Amino acid sequence: ARHLLGIEPLSPPEITSILDLADSYVDLNRRTIKHSDALAGMTQINMFFENSTRTQSSFELAGKRLGADVMNMSMQTSSVKKGETLIDTALTLNAMRPDLLVVRHPQSGAVDLLSEKVNCAVLNAGDGRHEHPTQALLDALTIRRAKGRLHRLTVAICGDIAHSRVARSNLILLGKMESRIRLVGPATLMPAGAGEFGCEIYEDMREGLADADVVMMLRLQKERMDGGFIPSEREYYHRWGLDAEKLAHAKPDAIVMHPGPMNRGVEIDGTIADDINRSVIQDQVEMGVAVRMAAMDLLARNLRAERGRAMAEGT
Ligand code: CP
Repeated sequence: ARHLLGIEPLSPPEITSILDLADSYVDLNRRTIKHSDALAGMTQINMFFENSTRTQSSFELAGKRLGADVMNMSMQTSSVKKGETLIDTALTLNAMRPDLLVVRHPQSGAVDLLSEKVNCAVLNAGDGRHEHPTQALLDALTIRRAKGRLHRLTVAICGDIAHSRVARSNLILLGKMESRIRLVGPATLMPAGAGEFGCEIYEDMREGLADADVVMMLRLQKERMDGGFIPSEREYYHRWGLDAEKLAHAKPDAIVMHPGPMNRGVEIDGTIADDINRSVIQDQVEMGVAVRMAAMDLLARNLRAERGRAMAEGT
């Protein structure tokens, strides 16, 4: 494929190839991420129309570790602020002949639309409530490294499912890889049609976490809420926040995940987030660099092959 716009179009073997390549970038002895020249001579532009700490910095590091020229567009100081549209911005950058565009945008579908207007590879770094494919891939790599497999694991995804592109990409990916998925949270934060993805739905945390192998907590995405869904953060924490008592219902070796950014004391107790025997939150961040390297490496190979064919055909 030319682009990575979501998990939806990927087959299980394609997901496995990305994870295998990402794994090969992790140096086991030094516990670091290797360097390569897979993107040497290529230009990567990061366009983030929404705030980011992890995704933007790890895409930048990943591009640099692969030898690309990496440019971070500062959307706050760009001509978008003067009214330039997403498409005009993309066409302007496209004229500078980038090879890879990494895009985050608050509107679902905006990255797909942009990909139709440019002739480089586009990677979705999160669009509205739609998809965050590299997050789901780095989560899968983290789970696979901790548990040795993805199939026949019980994964409880907890909290604000309705507004979460992370939850959506994860449940698509984990479903394709034959994990058993539970969605756990208040009915007001369950998306309509959640059952169609073949997952079990729970409102009670203790029931939802019973014998789970993986507990994935999500942030309350207040920026996507129209207001007035939860009584208070205190009550939310009491019912759906992950604390030691609720976690005790999961398997004794269950891992705890959170994509970040995390609100301690709202969806998760800080002690659990920092417990290196249970929490793999920092591993998720580390795997983010490896997964983004793998995704860009594979897209660059496809791009080179496509350009080679076009040269051969004289087009
Ligand atoms: N998980 C995630 O997307 O984090 P950032 O918003 O910091 O990139």
